[in-house]
Amino acid sequence: MKIFVTRKIPEEGLNLLKKEHELYVYPYEKIPTKTEIINGLKGKDGLLCLLADNVDKEIINSEPKLKMIANYAVGFDNIDIKAATKRKIPVSNTPGVLTDATSELTWALILSAARRVVEADKYTRAGKFSGWLPMLMRGQGFSNKTLGIIGAGRIGTEVALKAKCFKMNVLYFSNRVNDILDKKLNARKVDLNKLLTESDFISVHVPLTEKTYHLISEKELKMMKKTAVFVNTSRGPVVDEKALIKALKEKWIFGAGLDVYEFEPKISEDLKKLDNIVLQPHSASATFESRTDMAIIAAKNMLAGLKGKIPPNCINPEIF
Ligand code: DGY
Repeated sequence: MKIFVTRKIPEEGLNLLKKEHELYVYPYEKIPTKTEIINGLKGKDGLLCLLADNVDKEIINSEPKLKMIANYAVGFDNIDIKAATKRKIPVSNTPGVLTDATSELTWALILSAARRVVEADKYTRAGKFSGWLPMLMRGQGFSNKTLGIIGAGRIGTEVALKAKCFKMNVLYFSNRVNDILDKKLNARKVDLNKLLTESDFISVHVPLTEKTYHLISEKELKMMKKTAVFVNTSRGPVVDEKALIKALKEKWIFGAGLDVYEFEPKISEDLKKLDNIVLQPHSASATFESRTDMAIIAAKNMLAGLKGKIPPNCINPEIF
């Protein structure tokens, strides 16, 4: 069969696919346009796409032969699942293999924003360091402080577990009780308002849905402590970026770290100008290990789906 892969992914995944199928890999390191995806998909049985590809109804319905969509990401808000399900096309994601990587980068952002690592690096390189000073680059300490986790799924749980090395307390906001967090950390499940007002560090780990769009907006930012550090490695539109800019400019909170953006890949110029935010290019899962494993999982899902079997990480198993 024929598969369209919308970007070069690690070889380990491509090789698995090549053994059984004909591959067409989009040759450029950029987001393909809708027309390019539709053209690439012509006559193909499988689509392996990235989180940056907006695989909408029109794309899904453009190719009658399409039998399987494998997303190279754990999040799948970029795909019209309803449209795929209507056509009985399985859609898969890559859960699990990026949990560690994403939790590590979340901590990198928490640490950098709290201890002003990027700002201090710029300052030092600019030749401004003229000697040790008691007030220079003071940031937020961690011991006995509270980490608030919004969304205690796989990644949120792993971020919380790592708080143990910093001797922190953990609060979480989630639909379900998280036994791991309750037992291992003695963490408390609280409502969102309590989490926002009581946490010193707040990290978001929810999928993007209609319910989570702008979950963190002006009202929520105003509830946070003035000393709070806020981090988002989930999806950009979960946070009202305009409100966050205002919060950072007017110092409603101490600092922030973002890996994702409301209008990704566009990043607001106002955000870039701020010193009290650390910015990453949606790279939370970007370790060699994680990106390779994601490629293998996406390929295995594709192979199963093209055989008419339920892919191991199927998002819409009800179609079988
Ligand atoms: C995902 O897989 O959804 C992550 O956002 C990748 O970094």
